[in-house]
Amino acid sequence: MLKKLIFVPILVFYCVAAEPICTNGFTLVNNKCLKLMSTTTNYNSAEQYCRGFGATLMTVKDSVENDDIKTFLKSSASMVWMGIYCITNEQCFWDDSSKNVSNYSNFATGFPLTDEGNCVYFAVATGKWISGDCDSQQRASVCEMPTTVADDCPNNFNGNCYTFHDKQKFGDAQKICQQESGNLASIISEQENRYIMSQASQLVSGDLLIGATWSTDNNEQWLDGSTWQYSNIDPAYQHIMNCMAIANSVVHFAKGWYSVSCGMPYSFICKRPAGSTVSTTVPPTSTVPPTATVPPTVPPTAADALATVTQNCNSTLPMAPGFFTSPGFPANLAAPIFCTYQLNTIGSYRILLRIIDFVPESSDNVINVYDGDSTTLLGSFNGYTPLASLVSSGNRMMVTFSSGSTESFQGFSVTYTPYSG
Ligand SMILES: *[C@@H]1O[C@H](CO)[C@@H](O)[C@H](O)[C@H]1NC(C)=O
Ligand SMILES: *[C@@H]1O[C@H](CO)[C@@H](O)[C@H](O)[C@H]1NC(C)=O
Ligand SMILES: *[C@@H]1O[C@H](CO)[C@@H](O)[C@H](O)[C@H]1NC(C)=O
Repeated sequence: MLKKLIFVPILVFYCVAAEPICTNGFTLVNNKCLKLMSTTTNYNSAEQYCRGFGATLMTVKDSVENDDIKTFLKSSASMVWMGIYCITNEQCFWDDSSKNVSNYSNFATGFPLTDEGNCVYFAVATGKWISGDCDSQQRASVCEMPTTVADDCPNNFNGNCYTFHDKQKFGDAQKICQQESGNLASIISEQENRYIMSQASQLVSGDLLIGATWSTDNNEQWLDGSTWQYSNIDPAYQHIMNCMAIANSVVHFAKGWYSVSCGMPYSFICKRPAGSTVSTTVPPTSTVPPTATVPPTVPPTAADALATVTQNCNSTLPMAPGFFTSPGFPANLAAPIFCTYQLNTIGSYRILLRIIDFVPESSDNVINVYDGDSTTLLGSFNGYTPLASLVSSGNRMMVTFSSGSTESFQGFSVTYTPYSG
């Protein structure tokens, strides 16, 4: 009898704990968490507001969702920013990943129309989507986060609890995470990376150890057994150590991941499933830090870290992150050329551009970097000027390259990454 009485409340608790919930005052709508910000702002401020929660502006993936959002907003707002950014009238991308808007859209007739602007808002009365100017138009906005599972942990996102800790070496850090029934954090999506970065910037300073090992043969693994399906490795750093950290300090501008020594103490992040007080985690594949190895004789270049290297002159490049070089780099150019590169990133990010190589031959060879679409010059480099890192103010950046009359010129290589400073 006594046994039965104890058993029943546990069962009830289990069922309640598994219900999807929303945190931070978000409302559950069609299995997503939404929050209306009625204050009108430009698109970038709306993105910043959402990112404070680790959220994005809302995405709408089917007609049921479009109707539910209309109902949710009916009496509270008339026009709200949504998380779509259009590079051209044919190419629009969702903010929650760099996926394009292809499967479902509900643009009003004649839209998207980038002449009106590259951002998109939702007209509540009709449920139609309309292009608007990202900077000059002021709109209310709706942020979106995934649901999670009830847990009293302070950093609860998408079914996991995260804790941030002061400096330890890799092995000791993992032991502390295991005492919390978790592991050093894996980061398996852009969404999870965004959440962790938004919290890290509020909770800790300095670089942050994550639960990855990185062998010399470029084999990356997550300690908690997750599949290596997403990466934010910063192509500008060389891979010479076997543990991995998020560059969260000012020195490391890009906030990407880079290799660090397993024997050096760093602040770190633990992750465990939300709603679990006992361990349900996959046993870690290794708790022993991999032994430090000598740096490879030929360190991988930025080109190895990114799948595609673009060499085309005059192109709109794939969404950040990316890597491009002047045509034929590092072979000498056969004839003088002029090239224009248009760079883009999704809504909540800016673009960090780093010129890695620029072989000086003559001051005729010039790289110009413009904010947006060639309006404001951010920097001009001729191979003799010190190279710098440049950040756009919004989602776009334009780079031009002119090789002057010198024919023996080798060219340049550049990386561009999403930047959330
Ligand atoms: C959108 O993505 C799909 C699948 O990745 C691709 O086939 C299609 O060409 C893309 N459309 C646009 C307009 O970029
Ligand atoms: C589009 O829909 C198909 C089938 O419904 C799905 O497999 C695919 O992942 C979707 N693509 C995107 C970009 O959402
Ligand atoms: C790139 O475009 C510019 C004008 O927009 C043109 O002058 C230049 O020749 C083009 N470069 C190449 C290599 O096609």
